[in-house]
Amino acid sequence: MELRRFLSSRTALMRASQVRELLKWIGRDVISLGGGIPDPSSFPARDLREILDDILSSRPEVALQYAPTEGVDELREELARFMGRRGIKASADNVVVTAGSQEALELLARILIDKGDVVFMENPTYLGAIQAFRIYEPRMLGVPLDGEGMRVDVLEGKLKRARAQGLRVKAIYVIPTCQNPTGISLSGDRRKRLLELAEEYDFLVVEDDPYSYFVFEGASPPPLKSLDTSGRVIYLSTASKVLAPGLRVGWLVAEEELLDKVVTAKQAVTLQTSTLSQFVLLEALRRGVVERQLPRLRKIYRSKRDAMLEALDEYMPDGVKWTRPSGGMFVWLEVPEALDMSALLYRALRRYKVAYVPGTAFHVEGGGHNTARLSYSYPPVEAIREAIRRLASLISDSLRAPQGAS
Ligand SMILES: Cc1ncc(COP(=O)(O)O)c(C=O)c1O
Repeated sequence: MELRRFLSSRTALMRASQVRELLKWIGRDVISLGGGIPDPSSFPARDLREILDDILSSRPEVALQYAPTEGVDELREELARFMGRRGIKASADNVVVTAGSQEALELLARILIDKGDVVFMENPTYLGAIQAFRIYEPRMLGVPLDGEGMRVDVLEGKLKRARAQGLRVKAIYVIPTCQNPTGISLSGDRRKRLLELAEEYDFLVVEDDPYSYFVFEGASPPPLKSLDTSGRVIYLSTASKVLAPGLRVGWLVAEEELLDKVVTAKQAVTLQTSTLSQFVLLEALRRGVVERQLPRLRKIYRSKRDAMLEALDEYMPDGVKWTRPSGGMFVWLEVPEALDMSALLYRALRRYKVAYVPGTAFHVEGGGHNTARLSYSYPPVEAIREAIRRLASLISDSLRAPQGAS
């Protein structure tokens, strides 16, 4: 029977994540620079076991029970304090706990986007955001980046044009610190200018911030939310990169007026975030486990970043460029125009035994065929060096031979 005829027309807008597809290759002697997957050695398993033990002995009746949709009150209070230490003024009422930031993206798309609304994104941007937004049929417009992050001057030009065309600009989605996929951070001046533009052109700013906890050089720049005076910044963060992604806990900070609808939307999507995971995060914050993680994470990922950059310097042929991230998990690679990194992926996996994410997946308006995201977070240092050596061979060989041959 042909069952696909029952599918809604909405499913035609859904695209499988290339990163999740790539996960299937991990372990088949392929070294993966694909997903932004935390280093398993960073998981504070012993602390978490103790916490779980304590929770299940002392409060099983609440930790295993349903909880309010907006999240466990004590956790929301603790998160408000945690945010306060990063310069974000929030009370528990401004916090909703989500099933990772990915759910927050879905919830925001549900409550904010009407068909045809303009949503600006960095180009390239996080593909999970593109995936979440696309179903609601916004007009996603890309803003290019340079070494200081999003080109806010280009954004301004695009805003003027959108206004002249009578388009409704709803929001900008931005990852200002150690961006996914480029590793670039938005400069201080541009942060201020972006917020001025948001006032001038009256749109919301969705700030996605999973990586600012491990900036390797200098201080972490202030979150946009900490500079927000009018309440138009919606801030997302997550325990995925600082504690463990398997907990599936994230949080969203915004004005109560908006959170009301976020909570109603969440009732229909997940009802609530796992109560047990919320208690684990609560205790990890209270006992200083998260704070103690941060210097460890900086050390682990900094040495991996260095290994990748050194290997790129050593092995890549002329004409290949890459970013030098000051934190986070990603390097962005640009190869000569003649190569198509999507077309090369299969060969990379089968023959060279290395995985990466082709850059096209991160672009909202096409382009990026000669780019790729390389993640240094998961493989051990030696494997990173070997992966870059393999990738460099693939690129050198492909530059010599016409694409498609061999
Ligand atoms: C920018 C960005 N946003 C959101 C997410 C989703 O993270 P999670 O749902 O695990 O919190 C990720 C994960 O890699 C990310 O890089």
